[in-house]
Amino acid sequence: MNIENKTVLITGANRGIGRALMDEALRRGAKRVYSGSRSEQRHDDERVTFVKLDITDERDVRETVGTIGKLDILINNAGIFMPDDLGDADIINRHLAVNFFGPLKVTQAFLPALMRSKGAIINNLSLSALVPVASTPAYSLSKAAAHNLMQAFRALLSAHDVTVHNCFTGPVDTDMTRGFEVPKSPPGLVAAGIFNGFERGEEDIFPDPYSERIADGWHTSVIKALEREFAAYVPPIAEAALDCCHH
Ligand SMILES: NC(=O)c1ccc[n+]([C@@H]2O[C@H](COP(=O)([O-])OP(=O)(O)OC[C@H]3O[C@@H](n4cnc5c(N)ncnc54)[C@H](OP(=O)(O)O)[C@@H]3O)[C@@H](O)[C@H]2O)c1
Repeated sequence: MNIENKTVLITGANRGIGRALMDEALRRGAKRVYSGSRSEQRHDDERVTFVKLDITDERDVRETVGTIGKLDILINNAGIFMPDDLGDADIINRHLAVNFFGPLKVTQAFLPALMRSKGAIINNLSLSALVPVASTPAYSLSKAAAHNLMQAFRALLSAHDVTVHNCFTGPVDTDMTRGFEVPKSPPGLVAAGIFNGFERGEEDIFPDPYSERIADGWHTSVIKALEREFAAYVPPIAEAALDCCHH
């Protein structure tokens, strides 16, 4: 499990944590980094290839699959974040469209490639996937849904040797959290924390000092034990559920 010599796609790679993940992947010797972004990007490193990718746009997703072909590591990083009080269904739908249906579409589209490479999926979730933050419940529920989704992919894909790594990231100093007066980690530190966890083979990653505090409790929790127990029910239906990916 390492980044060296791997082909990596990062969604939302143009700024924030996605950009830091791209720089860190290059530092760790990635063979090629596909920088998924809604707007055209340039990078000095010739190992970087820009791909136009709005993760809510099925055509973009299809064309990205066609461009990339071979992929070892998919990093679902793109996301949106708005404060709300659950009073506006549109805000809930917008969060679900990007933070849940986006990673669902992109992951499904790349399953054949990831199965061929016996690759990995890294998801930049949030601590709020585990417990909602009262000022951002729509964001939190979209991350909780994405977490549940990725636990399901983990179980479904285990027979195909594709691993799924969920990152329960704490507050990070990016555009997303501007105006929120909480202690924040620098994006570079978080990107390194994500890849350190991945390279150690951790399926649940707590990549910064804030999230790290609950790592030990999580790994030995009843929820984690229940995830493993429930995963045992999956194999008989895995082939059928993933059949669509072979066509
Ligand atoms: N910052 C934090 O405290 C924090 C904590 C935990 C988890 N996270 C998660 O980390 C990830 C990155 O966040 P960040 O802090 O780096 O935020 P950011 O600086 O606001 O960057 C968000 C990225 O997502 C992209 N994006 C948004 N909607 C998209 C779409 N429909 N298709 C493709 N790309 C889209 C943005 O692209 P554009 O430039 O085109 O808008 C941008 O590249 C998110 O999933 C976020 O939820 C962040």
